[in-house]
Amino acid sequence: MSEKEPTQIPTATASAQSQPQGDTVFSLLGGESRVRALVDRFYDLMDLEPRYQALRAVHGSDLGSARQKLFWFLCGWLGGPNHYIERFGHPRLRARHMPFKIGLTERDQWLACMDQAMAEVGVDGALRAKLNEAFFGTADWMRNTPG
Ligand code: HEM
Repeated sequence: MSEKEPTQIPTATASAQSQPQGDTVFSLLGGESRVRALVDRFYDLMDLEPRYQALRAVHGSDLGSARQKLFWFLCGWLGGPNHYIERFGHPRLRARHMPFKIGLTERDQWLACMDQAMAEVGVDGALRAKLNEAFFGTADWMRNTPG
């Protein structure tokens, strides 16, 4: 399979790419502090909610590194600062997820956990719908095992 280039949310505009602090999804969301809040809630929920148990089980005991990396990645993917790429180069997300079993259950739990986190940190409804669509594309493409 060819590697997609998910370095940025597909809905980001060309002008957003040249003006990271302009009218990007990143700025609509409220910048770094809001991305941090979203990622923190996402991993807290993954840890707390029994309905995300299969997703939690794919992760190691310590979620600290995943928390930091998803924050860095999302900042750039949403059209903000490229913290992840500056540190690690191209995300190659599908390749980096190959060590972990990702089927429909894990995909759907990831998406539900992120949707709940967005709702709880107060992401605006229209933006949340747009992000859910974009997250679906990325999460579905990450599947590497049936079921
Ligand atoms: C589809 C279900 C998914 C599962 C089961 C999953 C699972 C994981 C696991 C187990 C890790 C390793 C965490 C660690 O370092 O301890 C990881 C890393 C990561 N995930 Fe996911 N993930 C999924 C979807 C996504 C999506 C949709 C995104 C982005 C929108 C994403 C972004 C990342 C990033 C940026 C890392 C860090 C990669 C690195 O540099 O090592 N993941 N994921």
